[in-house]
Formats: sequence, C-alpha cells, structure tokens
Amino acid sequence: MGSSGDEKNEILLNVGFIGAGNMAKAIGEGLINAGVIRPTRLYASAPSEAHLKHWKSLGINTTSSNREIVTNCPIVILAVKPQYAQDAISSAFSDFSNCAHRPITLVSILAGQTIENLEEMLYEVLQNKTLAERVNVIRTMPNTPLLVGEGCTVFSTSSKLEQLDPQLETVFDEHKDVVKKIFSVNGYCEEVSEYLINPIGALSGSGPAYVYQIIEAMSDGAVKLGVPRSMSYTLAAQTLLGSAKMVLQTGRHPGELKDEVCSPGGTTIAGISAMERVGVRHGIIEAIEAAFKKSEELAKKKN
Ligand SMILES: NC(=O)c1ccc[n+]([C@@H]2O[C@H](COP(=O)([O-])OP(=O)(O)OC[C@H]3O[C@@H](n4cnc5c(N)ncnc54)[C@H](OP(=O)(O)O)[C@@H]3O)[C@@H](O)[C@H]2O)c1
Repeated sequence: MGSSGDEKNEILLNVGFIGAGNMAKAIGEGLINAGVIRPTRLYASAPSEAHLKHWKSLGINTTSSNREIVTNCPIVILAVKPQYAQDAISSAFSDFSNCAHRPITLVSILAGQTIENLEEMLYEVLQNKTLAERVNVIRTMPNTPLLVGEGCTVFSTSSKLEQLDPQLETVFDEHKDVVKKIFSVNGYCEEVSEYLINPIGALSGSGPAYVYQIIEAMSDGAVKLGVPRSMSYTLAAQTLLGSAKMVLQTGRHPGELKDEVCSPGGTTIAGISAMERVGVRHGIIEAIEAAFKKSEELAKKKN
C-alpha cells in the first residue's frame, strides 16, 4: 500500500464495477484516496472509453467486457443506470457456470431496483437454482460525497442468506464485511430494512443535489448584496458544513439550534420569515417525496 495505506484495513479481495460513471468513480476513487485498496485490485467495465480513460489513469484495470468483471472479482458493484440493469447482468453472468466455484456478491447501487427484481434478473440468465444461490445480492443506497470521505450509505441484504448452506453463508458474511468497509471508510454506513431504501435514497442519495442548489441560492443572495462570487460559495458551503456538524456532534434538535441563532426582532428571524413566506421547507419536503415516487416508478418498470 501507499504511505497513506493502513495495512490492517486493507481490502484483499478484488472489487469490480459494472458501469464506470459518476457514482462508481466516487466509490472507487474514494477507496484509493482512503488508501485501503491497491488500484490493481479494482476493475471497471463500460461500453465506451468515456469514463474508463480516467480509471486507467489511476492504475485501475479497465475493460469493455462485463463478463471479465465477474471472472476476476468476488465483489461486483453494479453501477449502471437502472434501465440497463438486465443487459448488464445478462452479459456479466453469461459465463458464470465456468466460475461458479467462486461465489459472488453483487452489490447494487441502483435507484429503485429491489433485491427481488435483481434476483429475478440473475435467474433469467443463470436459469438454475444452484447457480443462482452462488450469487448473493446486496442492495445499497450511497451518495457522491463518498469521493471526499463524507458519504452516506445504507444497505440491505437478501433474505435468502438464511437458507444457504453454512459454508456459502460464511463466504457471503465475509463479503458483507468487505462491502461495509467499502462504504464506511468514506463516510457513514448502516444496514437497514429494505423498505427504507427508497425513502432514504430520496433523502441522502439525491440529497447532495438539493444541497448544491441551496448553496448556489445562498451564494446568489450574497452576490446580489455585493459579496464576491467565489467568496460567497466558500462561505455558503462552510456554513452548511458547520451547521451539519452542529447537528451531528451536539445531537441537539435542529429547531432548537435555529432558535439560538434568531434574536428577538433581529436579522435572522426576518430571513426565516421570508423563507416561510415562499415555502422553502415545504419545497424540500415535496422534493424528497417526488424523488421517492420516481424510485417507486422505476421499481415497477423493473428494467
Ligand atoms: N449519481 C448519484 O448521486 C447516485 C446516488 C445513488 C445511486 N445512484 C445510482 O447509481 C447508478 C449510476 O449512476 P451514475 O450517476 O453513476 O450514472 P452515469 O454517470 O451515467 O454512469 C453509468 C455508467 O454505466 C455505463 N454503462 C451503460 N450501459 C452499460 C452496460 N450495459 N454495461 C456496463 N456499463 C454500462 C456507462 O458507460 P459509458 O461510460 O460508456 O457511458 C457509464 O460508465 C444509477 O443506477 C443511479 O440510480 C446514483
């Protein structure tokens, strides 16, 4: 490992990505930045070179063949758009009968696709119960701040694990520990019941986009009053970071912390009143609900 590497924490299994776009990069590059895996243990596949060029420059193995990922990696992270899930799974596992001696954990980061959907997609290509048992599905909901060590990931495991032979269960338990490490070296990671994944996806999976909009809007407000643009972005972002740390580190209710900033008859309560007039809080609640509804729609379409 490099000088920043922690030998005890090192991931010693190969980890492959099917799909090499924004989210895969945030996870893969986050792992390299944290120094917990050698780039040569990482593999990434995509149909074009558009994203793979960057992976190659980091010393990661790249390919246009999804099958190569399954051949080389016991942990396979599925990171394509949800509508390409079946295509990607079919091509990746088309030759699985030849490497089924090595069980595989398929880690999905796809919005909306349930563990059951993914197991059905696998069954479609494997057509065999014994083979299908050798692929364990873990469904995750990560977010892009993984890239800077402040990610937020929840995950659920397949219920079929409870019915497997003990040897296979042990291998999948070891894989699960690696998956937990992949997502917790760069942020918060917690196992949850699957019914919570879509609502949490609408909160923390999509959340960075809402927050960037808020940072941009706060910055626009300051620029309107004459604050230089770059300074306003830094101050807005730092204000969000500081406020988030106040909530996480003090454990106090956000409403209580807000009250402390609002002096009676002062400037901040005037600002809060303007926010309430245009319905900022309601807008954010609606945004989360809209994202949740969309993920339910995607789940119904399956692929
Ligand atoms: N973005 C987020 O913040 C976020 C958060 C949580 C979950 N997710 C989930 O993450 C997944 C990926 O999102 P993203 O934003 O990373 O998408 P993206 O940047 O568009 O990347 C998609 C990648 O998939 C590749 N691809 C397309 N068809 C493929 C196939 N058949 N086999 C293998 N690779 C294929 C693309 O190839 P090319 O490079 O050739 O185009 C690209 O590298 C989505 O399912 C989304 O629901 C995203």
